[in-house]
Amino acid sequence: MDNFVSIGNDLFYVGANDRRIPLFESAYPVPRGVSYNSYLLLDEKTVLFDTVDRAVSEQFFENVERALGGRTLDYLVIHHMEPDHSASFGGIVKRYPKVKIVLNQKTAVMLNNFFGCPLPEIVTVKEGDELDTGKHKFRFVFAPMVHWPEVMLSFDVTTGTLFSADAFGTFGALDGSVFADEVNFEREFLDDARRYYFNIVGKYGAQVQSVLKKAAGLPIKTVCPLHGPIWRKGFDWYLKHYDVWSRYEPEEKGVAVFYASVYGNTANAAQILASALAGKGVNRIKTYDVSYTDLSYCLAEAFRYSHCVFAAPTYNNGVFTSMERLLNDLAAHNYQNRAFALIENGSWAPQANKIMREKLTALKNMREIGGGVTLLSALKEKTKDELFSLADEIATDIKN
Ligand code: FEO
Repeated sequence: MDNFVSIGNDLFYVGANDRRIPLFESAYPVPRGVSYNSYLLLDEKTVLFDTVDRAVSEQFFENVERALGGRTLDYLVIHHMEPDHSASFGGIVKRYPKVKIVLNQKTAVMLNNFFGCPLPEIVTVKEGDELDTGKHKFRFVFAPMVHWPEVMLSFDVTTGTLFSADAFGTFGALDGSVFADEVNFEREFLDDARRYYFNIVGKYGAQVQSVLKKAAGLPIKTVCPLHGPIWRKGFDWYLKHYDVWSRYEPEEKGVAVFYASVYGNTANAAQILASALAGKGVNRIKTYDVSYTDLSYCLAEAFRYSHCVFAAPTYNNGVFTSMERLLNDLAAHNYQNRAFALIENGSWAPQANKIMREKLTALKNMREIGGGVTLLSALKEKTKDELFSLADEIATDIKN
């Protein structure tokens, strides 16, 4: 049965939620599911903005058909070609064969590569082009690499509505309301929004900054992303987070302690350091075992805090595998601009600090605090003293 929502200004939410998906993009756990948003405009012309993932396509087709109320579909705007938004493209064309597809040149190539089917009539747009649908007029704003190279946004100049593609989206299904101002976004979504941002587009901070500059020139009243709630109030608060995130600035002064541990000794050291930090007055500390916490959460937390500690055993003359994966993933996402400290363990030839240091200092504007603490198998009183000294240095650095 259909389940669409009128969101005002001739616009309808026709997307759907998937709470069965274990891994978004086969990579990121989404225990709270995810929404695939699509919007339908009923103006003199009818316009569908993006489609949805195959997993929820039946619900989506019912929503579109019922919301159209017997009218045909005149336009389908494709803002982003990734299949979580375009997989139902073929089903829409089959149902509405006269629909005109509004896209840009890069999208046309990708559409053919993905689906290779004969396309209906195409309207190719360039940056700044406009689509007039009667009462509404849509201006296209290109947003390459937010999240793929073909991404574009559209802005309804009549109502101030920005269709923002993946930008300003979040993991997490919509539990009822489709509006951010009708849920406690900070409590219910912000952690997932941060994890979504850094894992999906974290690498492309410069490109996000460029889109934010374009958006700053628009009189935005409502933001309709492709995942998560719609913003019609308080968007500036969320925009500030995007600005901080895409400038690679820490969101909070505090410490994320990441450790990998084979027999518990490195975990012991990391926990002692975390407790010592708390004793020194640091009140924003998060501690993660990177072998048991999914990488996507660790990545987001590393970007969240001003200071990070990495503690790992030496393994195969390198860094223990789960820590190595985290460090590689941080590098792949342009991690930068943070202070870090190191703890290693090595029963006969400790190597981990040297390798972790090389990986971290190869990134932009990374600063080490202390010279690294070394455990030889288990902790000794001397090592504990070194951890206390390191905690002191980190706490002092945070206060300054
Ligand atoms: Fe939600 Fe880049 O797709």
